[in-house]
Amino acid sequence: NSQRLRGGNAPSVVVVGSLNVDTFVDVDRLPSRDETVGSRSPSTAVALGGKGANQAVAAARLSAAGGVAFVGQFGGDAHAAWLEQKLAASGVDVAACGRHAELQSGQGYVLLEPDGAASSVVVSGANGAWADAHVAAVCDLARGAAVVLLQREVPEGVNEAVAAACAAAGVPVIQDVGGEERPVADAHLANCAFVCPNLSELERLSGGAPGSLASDDDAVVAAAKALQARGARSVLVTLGSDGSLLLLDDGRILRQSAVPPPAAVVDATAAGDAFRAAFAVALVEGRPPEQCLQFGAAAGALA
Ligand code: RIB
Repeated sequence: NSQRLRGGNAPSVVVVGSLNVDTFVDVDRLPSRDETVGSRSPSTAVALGGKGANQAVAAARLSAAGGVAFVGQFGGDAHAAWLEQKLAASGVDVAACGRHAELQSGQGYVLLEPDGAASSVVVSGANGAWADAHVAAVCDLARGAAVVLLQREVPEGVNEAVAAACAAAGVPVIQDVGGEERPVADAHLANCAFVCPNLSELERLSGGAPGSLASDDDAVVAAAKALQARGARSVLVTLGSDGSLLLLDDGRILRQSAVPPPAAVVDATAAGDAFRAAFAVALVEGRPPEQCLQFGAAAGALA
């Protein structure tokens, strides 16, 4: 409900996470081990990236009320000023970000196939550098938000501290499980209002074999319930072209089909980020979970 929108200068949406400069290489197919392939295009493309920054930009573009703050880490290289200008151009407040003159900004390298599939390698750079005093300040900022978005491209201790502060203050946290294969502590799951894996992340978190949950809603629900048994509250699973499934903390199961993209898919990068940001914005607007899912699906398709 709209009462969740915070007054004064407190941002409604706080995103704590990674910031990358993404370099895109078009390929006909991914190289196999020990193989060299040529790119389809004679040049690369560069864009703002990082799951945190992507979610902040999407939330700012989708939020009628504005008030989106991003907290991440800028490096000391030439990319930093460019990234800052990109965030500001989308209306994202970066005042609480850290800066590290001695480090590179984070980087993403995306191999983009003709059908839009995006396979990435991320170089963490400054994303890994969080001083304790900065984390404490971020917790203060997060406590005043209407919703907080987290991913897994920054040290786990940052996410755990922010989520614990939010849980104590009654601020919902949406934890994207993407970005890192490390385990998630049960106590952290319990501090997040929504835990958001995609299918492969859910398989990994629930101990299933790769592919074991594909096209099987019952198996997805069982795996999501296994996360709830570990402490998770609501579990939001994004299923690519199969849509999404939300297992709520009261046991209800909501199913949303994928929204057909308005044109041929050219690049799937950050579609999941747009989905999560839209879900968060709709939540802050007080919409029921069914509408939050619809808004997320539409934003993901557009992205
Ligand atoms: O979710 C997409 C993002 O993942 C890319 O922007 C890349 O930088 C990685 O963080």
